[in-house]
Amino acid sequence: MSAALTINDLRQRARGRVPRMFFQYSDSGSWTESTFRANESEFDEIRFRQRVAVDMRDRSLATTLVGQPAAMPLAVGPAAICGLQVADGEIKAARAAEKFGIPFSLSTMSIGSIEDVAEATSKPFWFQLYMMRDKPFMERLIDRAKAARCSALIMTMDLQILGDRHADVRNGLSAPPKFNLNSISQIVTRPGWAFGMLGAKRRTFSNVVGHAQNVEDLGSLASWIAGQFDQSLTWKEVGWVKDRFGGPVIVKGILDTQDAQLAVSHGADAIVVSNHGGRQLDGAPSSIRVLPEIVDAVGHKTEILMDGGIRSGQHMLKALALGAKGVLLGRPVLYGLGAGGEAGVTRAFEIIRKEADVTMALLGERDVRNIGPHNIYSNDLVRQQGH
Ligand SMILES: Cc1cc2nc3c(=O)[nH]c(=O)nc-3n(C[C@H](O)[C@H](O)[C@H](O)COP(=O)(O)O)c2cc1C
Repeated sequence: MSAALTINDLRQRARGRVPRMFFQYSDSGSWTESTFRANESEFDEIRFRQRVAVDMRDRSLATTLVGQPAAMPLAVGPAAICGLQVADGEIKAARAAEKFGIPFSLSTMSIGSIEDVAEATSKPFWFQLYMMRDKPFMERLIDRAKAARCSALIMTMDLQILGDRHADVRNGLSAPPKFNLNSISQIVTRPGWAFGMLGAKRRTFSNVVGHAQNVEDLGSLASWIAGQFDQSLTWKEVGWVKDRFGGPVIVKGILDTQDAQLAVSHGADAIVVSNHGGRQLDGAPSSIRVLPEIVDAVGHKTEILMDGGIRSGQHMLKALALGAKGVLLGRPVLYGLGAGGEAGVTRAFEIIRKEADVTMALLGERDVRNIGPHNIYSNDLVRQQGH
């Protein structure tokens, strides 16, 4: 894995190892993908302020995220079907995060279940909730997260209806894959993946199958999912989730200052500034562009995390300079899984840590918690938000 020097190196490696439908599921955005691209490219508009002749010894990237110690200001964001990028993907990513000392988030739509991840790890992880119409199922899901000692719930607010991702439609994506000529030809050209999958603990949505009423097999699962994302979701559900869970609730999918205020007034313990990695509202701004105005609006009241386009340690530090307490990592974890399972995910973390550490030294900073607006130049992206 040490040959991979950048996240893109891991991405290229994953592309050669993961069947096309799953690689493209991770690697695409909705419609024209303009928001997906902007998430990463707009980091280039921010320039660092170099300082010299500052004692740069004894640097520290350690911080806390939602009350939990973290080896760096990074957590693994929730991603569906990690366990189809590589066999037992959720368990592998969770173990890599635990060993690295950063929080891991498990998606509702994971392949490995809450209980599988709890059994494979010893530290608490975060569980991400999609609000479904089946309330008894939601109650049980929250109770299961509690029983598994999850230390926070992430409520994702930006996916009650699915943004069209053309690659997935063309590839006929499903979990597990439907067997037809197209999918079989994708799988036989990735024998390492297929061999691993034969020994996988799970191959379908294990938080759902056997837990939701009348979902016992794949046919019933597909129709359940299609009808379940709750389009009537409103802010009052945050309070309901908080009461049931009894621990911190992180509200994810905030791009607007009023929504940020509403999330806070409805009890969010932290928010994630996010456009779902450019997979939902194409044409929405990049996360880094709206981060400063959201920090201005609610930064004094709540902890602000962000995600979208983080591909390097420099991106992470730029988000911190604009007021985020930490960032979530989406696709780089999936590329790492595809590239080399647990070792690939660890490599993604190492790449980010090394770059963040050296960049901090060149900024003349020794403690990542001191990174702030003084480390960057104001420019159009930063100034228009009042910085
Ligand atoms: C393949 C894939 C699956 C995802 N699944 C979920 C999910 O199940 N729940 C969720 O809240 N966010 C999900 N996300 C969004 C991520 O949590 C995160 O917001 C986004 O990936 C961050 O952008 P990045 O990929 O550029 O780092 C998913 C993202 C990807 C790429």
